[in-house]
Amino acid sequence: MSDVDVLDTFGRPLRDLRISVTDRCNFRCVYCMPKEIYGRDHRFLERRELLTFEEIARVARIFVANGVSKLRITGGEPLVRRDLERLIAQLAELNVDLTLTTNGSLLRQKAQTLADAGLSRVTVSLDSLDDAQFRAMNDVDFPVAKVLDGIAAAHEAGLPVKVNAVVKRGTNEDQIVPMAARFRELGHTLRFIEYMDVGHTNGWRLDDVVPAAEIVGALDRAFGVEPVDAAYRGEVAKRYRYRDGTGEFGVISSVTQPFCGDCTRARLSAEGRLFTCLFAVRGNDLRAVIRKGATDEELAAAIADQWHLRKDRYSELRSRETADLERIEMSYIGG
Ligand SMILES: C[S@@+](CC[C@H](N)C(=O)[O-])C[C@H]1O[C@@H](n2cnc3c(N)ncnc32)[C@H](O)[C@@H]1O
Ligand code: SF4
Repeated sequence: MSDVDVLDTFGRPLRDLRISVTDRCNFRCVYCMPKEIYGRDHRFLERRELLTFEEIARVARIFVANGVSKLRITGGEPLVRRDLERLIAQLAELNVDLTLTTNGSLLRQKAQTLADAGLSRVTVSLDSLDDAQFRAMNDVDFPVAKVLDGIAAAHEAGLPVKVNAVVKRGTNEDQIVPMAARFRELGHTLRFIEYMDVGHTNGWRLDDVVPAAEIVGALDRAFGVEPVDAAYRGEVAKRYRYRDGTGEFGVISSVTQPFCGDCTRARLSAEGRLFTCLFAVRGNDLRAVIRKGATDEELAAAIADQWHLRKDRYSELRSRETADLERIEMSYIGG
């Protein structure tokens, strides 16, 4: 533990910051931004409502001074925010692990610039290798070949790549084994994510979740796998290795085996609200604090005060009752 540790009510330190740079996206993934809701009438944030790159970099610097060692840029789709590489360059100066989660659609154009700006690595979300299935899941008819080419571009630019796949019952569970086969051959770690009840717009039902244990079972039957010890406290994915030594994959089981006890993450929305849980309802308006002219010390105190009060452990308490509670959307808070 370092001397700058900020602890919450359960003694969990603040270690990771996820920064959403936009609530907009060029995809309409069925489990995240269903078209019926995010069609023409949805009100996205205006440009002036977003934190500027300079504001984000300042907030990030204060988080790092208070113990954060990992920054993840997300959204919406972060690569639709213009000149994102300018922000990456500013954040790279903080010398911490700096990564980005993207749907991969714009990576062919952007990978080299992002790597040059100082990005450490990239996570690409991809749920299917079957073109028709992938086009239906992103719901904008985007071809899978272009995302695979984006992954290749990231690799060529020297960025280590992880691939995230959300598994939804009756939609893409037939992809578990083919995706594992493809990405272990390419040498990219694949992580399967249980479909989560984030937001309300996706009509989530427990029956739609494919439990991590089932995913691991399918991969064990196909390839033979064994668990790997967690690398650090708060590691989200449970890791497994293929017994033949051809690499690793992970499962993120936030529904069937919640990991709130070790959660060290805070989330900053694109308009500068700070959330201490993916399932939190209200965020602290840091933008207001910044634009009121707060000093670095005042901003640091606002962040620490919120973290000290943190008692979120939604996934551990998840039940029939929590299903109806108010929740914010994944595309707003960032994954
Ligand atoms: C909200 S997206 C933002 C970044 C980028 N647009 C992308 O898709 O990678 C971040 C991650 O959240 C995941 N996600 C979105 N909705 C989800 C849900 N209901 N359950 C589990 N994961 C979800 C996505 O698959 C993606 O890996
Ligand atoms: S998961 Fe990512 S790509 Fe898909 S709709 Fe949500 S923000 Fe967009």
